[in-house]
Amino acid sequence: AMEERLRAVRARVRSFPDFPVPGVLFRDISPLLKDPVAFRALIDLLEDHLRTSLPPIDFIAGLDSRGFLIGPPLAQRLGVGFVPIRKKGKLPGPTESVSYTLEYGEAALEIQSDAVEPGQKVVIVDDLLATGGTMRAACELVKRLKAEILECLVIIELKFLKGVEKLESVPFFSLLQYD
Ligand code: PRP
Ligand code: ADE
Ligand code: MG
Repeated sequence: AMEERLRAVRARVRSFPDFPVPGVLFRDISPLLKDPVAFRALIDLLEDHLRTSLPPIDFIAGLDSRGFLIGPPLAQRLGVGFVPIRKKGKLPGPTESVSYTLEYGEAALEIQSDAVEPGQKVVIVDDLLATGGTMRAACELVKRLKAEILECLVIIELKFLKGVEKLESVPFFSLLQYD
């Protein structure tokens, strides 16, 4: 049943050459979100992974914007809260900020300073790991608040970009891998 779910998820990822810039093969999860059976299969698989592989967590942190599509339904399944990590300038009040580069540009991410307490256990969720710049910046933010990152979790890992190497010692899990 698990392999069937994985096939259903994989079948709903499509690829566009040269988007958003020449040379990038863009992996689009819109069909996955559009198909309620495949979307449920996705959340089932991620829930199962977290329940069986990790100790209980305090929060799911999700990355603006595609991590927001996966994080909240997963957090609801697990019965935990969701914390947004946003692109610069979107979050009110005191924030921490980190600049980074990604496969096709550069940006900055922020977290609210009171989002998590020191020692709380967090899983960081995004749709995709490419160069790892985005996920590494998110890890830096969570570490600044002295929370414990139990895992970085994505649907899709672009293996050839070796993004995991940027995450150093933080545990990492991907559901689907592309070369
Ligand atoms: C995409 C994707 C990841 C990131 C991965 O986000 O959703 O967050 O790039 O790239 P990296 O591993 O090279 O850092 P993007 O910044 O395009 O914005 P979006 O999520 O708002 O679409
Ligand atoms: N973010 C960074 N690289 C990407 C890619 N190749 N497809 C989709 N999202 C991405
Ligand atoms: Mg993103």
